[in-house]
Amino acid sequence: MSQLPSLLEHRYGTGLDAGTVIPVNTVIEHLLSHRSVRAYLPTPVPAGCLEALVAAAQSASTSSNLQVWSVVAIEDPERKAKLAALAGNQAHIRDVPLFLVWLADLARIDAVARAQGEQAEGLEFLEALLVGVIDAALAAQNAAVAIESMGLATVYIGGIRNKPEEVARELGLPPGVFPVFGMCVGYEDPARPAAIKPRIAQPAVLHREQYRLEDQVREAQAYDAVLAKFWAGEGMNPPAWTRTIVSRVKTPAALHGRERLVEALHNLGFLLR
Ligand SMILES: Cc1cc2nc3c(=O)[nH]c(=O)nc-3n(C[C@H](O)[C@H](O)[C@H](O)COP(=O)(O)O)c2cc1C
Repeated sequence: MSQLPSLLEHRYGTGLDAGTVIPVNTVIEHLLSHRSVRAYLPTPVPAGCLEALVAAAQSASTSSNLQVWSVVAIEDPERKAKLAALAGNQAHIRDVPLFLVWLADLARIDAVARAQGEQAEGLEFLEALLVGVIDAALAAQNAAVAIESMGLATVYIGGIRNKPEEVARELGLPPGVFPVFGMCVGYEDPARPAAIKPRIAQPAVLHREQYRLEDQVREAQAYDAVLAKFWAGEGMNPPAWTRTIVSRVKTPAALHGRERLVEALHNLGFLLR
């Protein structure tokens, strides 16, 4: 019996429009089951899982096969504690047995160019950073899917961009390497399970032929109600989603240090021409 109808119900609060029939397969069911987990058991990640998730990550498409990303795997409790503090005191980084930091990595290609006695002027442009960030994100998401397929759980950690230079120092990153986000990997604490969080309805994100701005505010407000019901089921009553997302962009201070990202990138060796 397919879990798809129930998964769609959880993903949208209401499921898809009546009459919409989508293909059922185990990959789609797996993707629709995603939940960010922030409560972990101390149980170590079994041998071979790190290599499996990296193989999955390396199987993602990569711009022009440049492969301008890397990942640092951290298990040392002291280093995890330092990174937890740098990322805004997120306890799950300390508690999780394995913490990954995904990197936009222009250092490898730069070193290869130098070894050939060549310039690498193309790396001085914003485009090069973008390629590295896109490569890292695609690799990481493949890894996230693999992690969940192995019965492990995960959550991305953008908080490491609050203090990118300190994170770079802690991880010994050379110039031209930028920590894009972290990722917790471990077994979910069954005593504190995470739920599937609904998303905004498909008409908000799926535009046919041309973009439509007209319905966006109405869709966002409709999603407020869906998310409020979800939070109520979790015993919580946070501000409406439309309030929360605006509070995240209202002022530079809301960026928690990331408002100085251009300066941080310059310090990390990115010219961003
Ligand atoms: C790039 C990125 C950075 C994130 N950073 C954090 C973070 O620092 N801390 C955290 O607890 N969750 C973080 N998240 C998780 C999101 O809050 C989460 O994906 C979102 O609320 C949707 O919930 P779900 O993943 O359970 O569906 C991040 C997610 C992404 C994609």
